[in-house]
Parts: sequence; C-alpha cells; structure tokens
Amino acid sequence: MDRDKMISYIKEKTNIIPKAGIVLGSGLGDAYSCVKDATYIPYSDIPGFPTSTVAGHAGRFVLGYIEEVPVILMQGRVHYYEGYSMEAVVLPVRIMGMLGIDTLLLTNAAGGIAETLLPGDIMIIEDHISSFITSPLIGANDETLGVRFPDMTQVYDREYIDILKDAFHHQKMDIKQGVYIQVSGPQYETPAEIRMYKKLGADAVGMSTVCEAIAARHMGIKVAGLSSICNKAAGLGGELSHTDIIDMSRQMSDKLIKIMIYFMKEYKRRYNEWM
Ligand code: HPA
Repeated sequence: MDRDKMISYIKEKTNIIPKAGIVLGSGLGDAYSCVKDATYIPYSDIPGFPTSTVAGHAGRFVLGYIEEVPVILMQGRVHYYEGYSMEAVVLPVRIMGMLGIDTLLLTNAAGGIAETLLPGDIMIIEDHISSFITSPLIGANDETLGVRFPDMTQVYDREYIDILKDAFHHQKMDIKQGVYIQVSGPQYETPAEIRMYKKLGADAVGMSTVCEAIAARHMGIKVAGLSSICNKAAGLGGELSHTDIIDMSRQMSDKLIKIMIYFMKEYKRRYNEWM
C-alpha cells in the first residue's frame, strides 16, 4: 500500500485541495449529486487502492465543492467483511487526511436498536462502540499519522453535533442521536445479539464507520457521523433483507443532501471566522 503513489495519482487528476471529506454509506451514493465542478476518480484507477466487491457500492472519489467548501466524497467504501485488512479498510480515510482534510463526515445505513429509532430516521452519532471489531491502529504505529495511544473521549466533535442538530431543526426533522456499534457482518445480527448490544448501550448497529472514525481521530481529523436507520434491528421488526435496506437508504439520500449542504455552509462560516 504505497500511499504516496496514490496521493500523486489523485493530485495529477485535480487541483482541488479538499478541506472536508464525506463518506457516503450504502444506498446514499446518490448524495454526490450536490457536488459542484466535480472530478471523478474511480478507486480502480488508483494504483493499489482497495475496491469494493459489493454490488451497488460504486467505488469512486468525487472531488469538488459544496457551498464553496472544497470537498472529497467517497461514493462507496470497502468493508471489513469483504476480506480486507482493517488497515486497507481505513486506507481511504488516511489518504483523504494526507490530501488535507481536517473534517470528516461519515454516513452509513444502520439498523435501529433504540425504540425511538424508526426506519426513515437519521441518527446523529454521538459516540460509538468498537469492541466487537479489531482496531485499525493495531501494528507498528506510524508516528507521521498520530500517537500510539490516541484519546477517544470525544470522537464525534461536539461543535459538529450541534451543527447537525441545527441542520435537523432547520429541516424540521426530529433530532435523534445515539451510540453506533460496528460489528463485522456480513451476516445480520441475531435477536440475542441485538439484546446484548442494547444492554451495552448501543442505539444503532452497522458494519462500518467506527474503524474509519478511529483512524481519522488518530490523525487529528474532526469527525461527525450520521446513520440512516433503514430497519428495526433483528428481533425488533421483521426479517432483514439487504435489498430492502438499500432501498430504504436510497430514499434518504435527499434528506442527507440537505444536511450536508447545511453542514458545509456552517463549516465555511466558521472556518472563515477562524482564518
Ligand atoms: N445490522 C447491521 N447492519 C445494517 C443493518 C442492521 O440491522 N441495517 C443496515 N445496515
């Protein structure tokens, strides 16, 4: 995994130096349409870059502008259950960090564990549980990225949680926030597992995001997270089907676009103030 080669390849394709990164979760890929002056870079064109094997997960970077903020979007991500190492799964986040982002908005499709979370809701991630997956930081620590033992007290930036709440308020959407747990998948959970996760304090469950949030915090990138709740978690509703989950998630990409636009508008306002 020659990160420098990958960075050079991307820099050959565009002059944009992204400030914020966005990872679009399963079914949310259409949200890339709000990016202006877009350059598309398929993952498969980047030398050595991991590419998704899951149908319906288009794999490319989209670089351009949202509300004049230079952004890099990932339309599709690779998952641990595809057989990649955790290091490969978080490589794209590290590449975005090395390209210059200071902010990362992670999105995913998730199952709702908390009673208050219904299909169609979007949950602001306030914290996460990583204990059921391996850490992306295992192995020799790359000091150029971050410290050996990074603090995880506040993974999801408080100020960004407030911006997201304002965005929901603005869109007249119910504000729902909670704890996301990443599990490996690819099988969905059993009802007994969901009862356990609930006891442990999880509100929503999915197969991504947490490892990326850890890798981003390791590098000092500020993180925000959103889960599109596509189904009630196992045992709390009907049987789970990937097709139904993706269909539900797709229906939420318009809502997500509005939140992304609001977020970037606020980011620009605050960033300009900080300059
Ligand atoms: N479990 C795990 N991942 C998911 C779910 C779920 O219920 N829904 C969407 N992604």
